[in-house]
Amino acid sequence: MWEYTDKVKDHFFNPRNVGEVENPDGVGEVGSLACGDALRLTFKLDKNGRIADVKFKTFGCASAIATSSVLTELIKGKTLEEAMKVTNRDIAAYLGGLPEQKMHCSVMGREALEAAIANYRGGGTAKHEIEGNIVCTCFGVTDKEIERVIRENDLTTVEQVTNYCKAGGGCGGCHGEIEKIIERVQGERVREQMLPPPRRGGKLTTIQKIQLIQQTINEQVRPALRAHGGNVELIDVEGNKVVIAFRGMCAECKISDFTMRGVVEAKLREFVSESLFVEEDKESLEQGHEHGSKS
Ligand code: FES
Repeated sequence: MWEYTDKVKDHFFNPRNVGEVENPDGVGEVGSLACGDALRLTFKLDKNGRIADVKFKTFGCASAIATSSVLTELIKGKTLEEAMKVTNRDIAAYLGGLPEQKMHCSVMGREALEAAIANYRGGGTAKHEIEGNIVCTCFGVTDKEIERVIRENDLTTVEQVTNYCKAGGGCGGCHGEIEKIIERVQGERVREQMLPPPRRGGKLTTIQKIQLIQQTINEQVRPALRAHGGNVELIDVEGNKVVIAFRGMCAECKISDFTMRGVVEAKLREFVSESLFVEEDKESLEQGHEHGSKS
């Protein structure tokens, strides 16, 4: 049995905006009866370009009905640009959460909306356009759709991908390909996060410099120290002086001086600025010992 929140139950038992708008400006369809879920969304704009009326029809489970109902509530009164900013996570959050196995319902709502807006703007087919190459033939899901759910929802396993877009939920023949896509997208995300913050005129502002120092410590230094039972904290930044404090095994370590120069300082010079130098905050170390001996 799925655990549903009261809000999901409310929108399932009393769905809002069910049906079809008369003479709609946009129509969006997603899913198919063969795959178990289908959703049709129609909307009409007022003279100011805001969504005056929106209705849905769905063939699906309790979550499909509840997420479609909430979607219509969330976008009513919005411009199309504002409506496009509603994500599947917004829909799930409004409902107080969804069982992860049902997250694909929230994705389906967002896709139906995109199809309806594309239909209004381009006047073409109401069907959700599927871009990319099919990876999961059981459910007709493409690499682009898989990439998108991974990126937008920070997914890391095949099971999660199945929960969010159904890919992989049939014969399992596509699992290897999905794993490769997860590795690629998550690798790209890490590299993006590693990029330094935007520079102004080629020079870091003080805040950007501190952020980049903290980021470098978090990503380049701390994991290596943690692997040996140690840790490091950023205490202060004064000009080019970076004050740190070692914790755990590093605080006791006889070669902490080497770690400070050869690891912390070297990484900060590589990723932030050649002119940085690092000093250890002995006062904080002593306080750490005092706290440690009291506890
Ligand atoms: S090809 Fe994806 S589950 Fe069968």
